[in-house]
Amino acid sequence: MNAPLTSLAQRIISWQRQYGRHDLPWQNTQDPYRVWLSEIMLQQTQVATVIWYFNRFTNSFPDVDSLANASIEDVLLHWAGLGYYARARNLHACAKQVVVLWNGEFPTQAEALQTLPGIGPSTAAAIAAFCFGQRTPILDGNVKRVYCRFFSVEGDPSSRLVTQQLWRHAHEATPSIALTINEPDAMARFTQGLMDLGATCCTRRNPNCDRCPLRADCVAHLTQRTQELPSPRAIRLKPERSTMMLIVSTSIPNQAADNKTNKTSTAKAILLYKRPSNGIWGGLWSLPECQVNDGMAADSDSGVDSAVESKVSAQSADLMVIQWCAKHGILNPTILSMAAFRHTFTHFHLHIQPWSVEINDINGFDLSASNDTMRWVRADQLHLFGMPAPVQNLLANDL
Ligand code: ADE
Repeated sequence: MNAPLTSLAQRIISWQRQYGRHDLPWQNTQDPYRVWLSEIMLQQTQVATVIWYFNRFTNSFPDVDSLANASIEDVLLHWAGLGYYARARNLHACAKQVVVLWNGEFPTQAEALQTLPGIGPSTAAAIAAFCFGQRTPILDGNVKRVYCRFFSVEGDPSSRLVTQQLWRHAHEATPSIALTINEPDAMARFTQGLMDLGATCCTRRNPNCDRCPLRADCVAHLTQRTQELPSPRAIRLKPERSTMMLIVSTSIPNQAADNKTNKTSTAKAILLYKRPSNGIWGGLWSLPECQVNDGMAADSDSGVDSAVESKVSAQSADLMVIQWCAKHGILNPTILSMAAFRHTFTHFHLHIQPWSVEINDINGFDLSASNDTMRWVRADQLHLFGMPAPVQNLLANDL
């Protein structure tokens, strides 16, 4: 490694000591379970959001065995709200593999960690560096930005070519063997320092170059190009899809309360459907959907992904809801359209038109028809069901 790059590693390490983050709940430990879990949660989610989820998750599943033995339902319930649910399914699959294939111990080398579900090269490297001091470079989104500026790398950082170039720089920048021998925590500190620098100093907008330890030889800073680097991502327009979500509700006898009070009262119950395990929101509980093309999304295996691309006209929409109700034996419902909103996934926008469907004629409907994929759930029990955040919010606003 040449002299400026040795000093880059040293500067990041000293900067991390003084200005980096030290008290996050997954720090000050070399327990690969906690580090792995935090890295997976942090893949698409900000530190401030992750803290609460991480604490709750580790309270319920304190180690890899307890997670491997948990049901996927329970894991999804703990993940609900963090989004990108494939992460939760991979997390569960990974815990099982660690228990079965690795005797309950995470492998210590980045190459072996990468063979586990949901662990990519950068996450594997972070775990290997934090827990086992392995000399291995990382390259997450924040770190890409630091290297794009420092080395003046042009082009869309998410493209394959630019990513390969950035990995080469990441290898060059990794602390030397001499440094890691002299300072046993050098790799962990360097790795954390790079992440912290990207998140708190070398930010996307208005980077705080005055406080950056790399300013003396950061090419973007020296050439006043921090606003231009990294180059903007190539714009890919996301397709728009549409669906209608039905909040189907009815009043049911509130036996639990009535037994205590000796009175007769009612509670509100909502119809939930479990989504197929593959595809968007896989395995989570959600609302029945009435799709624009076939009127039966929740019953098919297609899920939201196959929702039609066009929006429904207001006139035909209520007819479709009524048809959906008739098909499900719901007679004389009171239907009301609610405020529509848009939810953005990685690859498309979903326009969601919610409808309130109140069942008045309970005789026509089989309330006991709950099974593994559909349930009537009392409003005060909804929190026991893992649901996607937009559905959770919709119900919270409605009930
Ligand atoms: N983002 C990804 N990993 C992180 C970590 N260990 N600390 C802070 N932000 C992160």
